[in-house]
Amino acid sequence: MDLYNTLQDIVQQAPVHSKWLNTLSYMENAGARKISACEHTDKVNLIQLKHAAEEHRHAYYLKKQIGKINPGACLTYQADELLAPIHTKQYLHQLDVQACRYLKQTFGLQKEALKYAAYLFVTYAIEVRADELYPVYQEVLTAQKQKVMVKSIILEEEGHLEEMIQQLQHFAPDWQIHAAKVQEIEHALFTQWMRAIQTATLAHA
Ligand SMILES: [Fe+2]
Ligand SMILES: [Fe+2]
Repeated sequence: MDLYNTLQDIVQQAPVHSKWLNTLSYMENAGARKISACEHTDKVNLIQLKHAAEEHRHAYYLKKQIGKINPGACLTYQADELLAPIHTKQYLHQLDVQACRYLKQTFGLQKEALKYAAYLFVTYAIEVRADELYPVYQEVLTAQKQKVMVKSIILEEEGHLEEMIQQLQHFAPDWQIHAAKVQEIEHALFTQWMRAIQTATLAHA
């Protein structure tokens, strides 16, 4: 089953769709918190501040969209308000753990420096994914004539990807080799996550 079909199944069932929006909101919030956690106390720059602010806005915006389909649903991020809660949390956590392991081995980094490298590569992989996922989701929303919209997120995610590339070029001239490794890790985790999402969606049907 491909991404479009999975999202179509989700969007067609209002309670599942609400949970999906909440799950994306959870992911955005976790991402935002991660970016903030990676900030250097006094060397943080404008790009990082902008990025954290926008990811926080995405979490808020997606949560607000739930009101268009199921007002009063999914008020928090508790497990029964998310789709595939275990795999959802696992995706971000494992991506971080496995990417850190690779970066530590490859660059011999520690503490603050490792944190910053992880911010760059993990965020890059997530942005590549976001640039694939949100446009397909919007396509489904438009085809289903839904009031929910993610166009403003798509625009900002495209900006994030460009900003991450700029920062990565600055970090290492051969960044693409390492980014590809982290993307490999991300790809495997995303596949597992999507499978769990599909299972959860079918369970509702
Ligand atoms: Fe985002
Ligand atoms: Fe982003």
